[in-house]
Amino acid sequence: MATYTIAWMPGDGVGVDVMNATRVVLDAMHFDAEYIPADIGWDFWCTEGNPLPDRTIDVLKRADCALFGAITSKPRDEANEELAPELRDKGLVYFSPIVKLRQLLNLHTNLRPCKAYPGNPLNYRGDDVDLVIFRENTEGSYGGVEWFPLPEKVYDALCDNPKMVKWKDKGLENVALSTRIMSRQGCESICRQAFEYAKKNGRESVTLVEKPNVLRETGGLMTRVFRSVADEYPGIESWEANIDAMCMWLLKSPQNYDVLVAENMFGDIISDLAAGLVGGLGFASAANIGDDYAVFEPTHGSAPKYVGQNVVNPMAMLFTAKLMLEWLGEQQDADRLDRALAEVIVEGTIATYDVKGRGKGDSTMAVAEEVARKVTQTVGA
Ligand code: IPM
Ligand code: MG
Repeated sequence: MATYTIAWMPGDGVGVDVMNATRVVLDAMHFDAEYIPADIGWDFWCTEGNPLPDRTIDVLKRADCALFGAITSKPRDEANEELAPELRDKGLVYFSPIVKLRQLLNLHTNLRPCKAYPGNPLNYRGDDVDLVIFRENTEGSYGGVEWFPLPEKVYDALCDNPKMVKWKDKGLENVALSTRIMSRQGCESICRQAFEYAKKNGRESVTLVEKPNVLRETGGLMTRVFRSVADEYPGIESWEANIDAMCMWLLKSPQNYDVLVAENMFGDIISDLAAGLVGGLGFASAANIGDDYAVFEPTHGSAPKYVGQNVVNPMAMLFTAKLMLEWLGEQQDADRLDRALAEVIVEGTIATYDVKGRGKGDSTMAVAEEVARKVTQTVGA
C-alpha cells in the first residue's frame, strides 16, 4: 500500500495541464502515493448542475489531502446559459467549488508564500522579496451571506437603523447587500498561525492588513485580536497597515515586509499583488489548510484562453506540490523539489512564454521534465 492517498483534482482549463506536469515531477521523485481522481469544475456544473459532486467529497474524505489544479467560474447568468437544457429552470445556482470546499472542510487558513527566486526575470522588485501571506479562508465576505433583492424581513430589520434611511428611499427591489462577517475565533486563529509561523521560521515581523478606520466593527475586532496575540510574541515585531496603503507599500518596498496576515478578501487582494512582485501567477502557490486536512491549489485560475495548449507555467503548481510535501512532513522531498525549481529558474534555459516572451516559450511539460531531471540529479541518482 502506498504511504499517502492523494485526492487528484485537475479541475478544468489549464488545471489539467499543470496537474499532468506535476505528476511527472512527483513520479520522478518516487513520491509514494496513490492518486484518486475526483471530479470538480465547470464540466460538472454544465452536465450535472453541480461543480462539486457528492462523490468528490467522499474521495476527499478517504484521502490524506488533495491537490487541485484550477476551475472556471462565471457570473450567475452566464453559468445558467451553459447548463444542459434539461437542467435549466430548475433553480440551480452556480457556486465556486473551491470556496465551497474551503467552507465544507473548514480549511480556515490560506497560506501563500511569495518568494522571489534569484534569476527570475519577472522579479518585479528585485531578487530579495520573501513574503508569506496568511489569509483567513472561510469568513469575511466569502461567507455567502448576501441578497439581491433584499428579503423584506432583512430590509425592515436594517431600516430600524437611522443610517439606512438613504437605502430605504431607494426601495427594497433596488438594493443589494453583501456582508463581511468575522468571528473572534477566526481572527485569533489566523493571527496566531501567522505569529507561530514567524517564530518557527525566524521571521522578524508580522503585519496586519486591514481597514479598521472604515470597517470599524470587523476591522476593529481583527485589530484588537491581532494586538493581543502579538503581545504573546515579544520577539516578533508587529505592524499594522490599511489595505490601500499596503498595496502601495508592497509595490514600493516589499523587502520591508515578512509575514502578512489578513481577512479573506484583503488576503485575496494582497496575494495577487504579492504574486505580481515575484513572477506573477505562474509562480504563486497556495495551501488551504484546516485542523487535519488540506487542499493544495495554485493561486492562478483556469486561464480558458490557454486550454489544451500546454503552454502555461507549471511552476505555481509545482511550488504548490512542495507545500503539500511540507504539510505531509516530507521536508527532505520538499527541499529537494525547491532546489530543483530554483535551479531551473536561475538557469532560465527552459521556461514558459510568461518568462521568455510570447512565441518563445517552452511547453508546460518541457518545464516539468526539466524539473524532474534536476530533482533526480539532486538526489544523486
Ligand atoms: C483565489 C481565487 C478565488 C478566491 C476565486 C477563484 C473564488 O481568487 O483563490 O485567490 O477569490 O478566493
Ligand atoms: Mg484570488
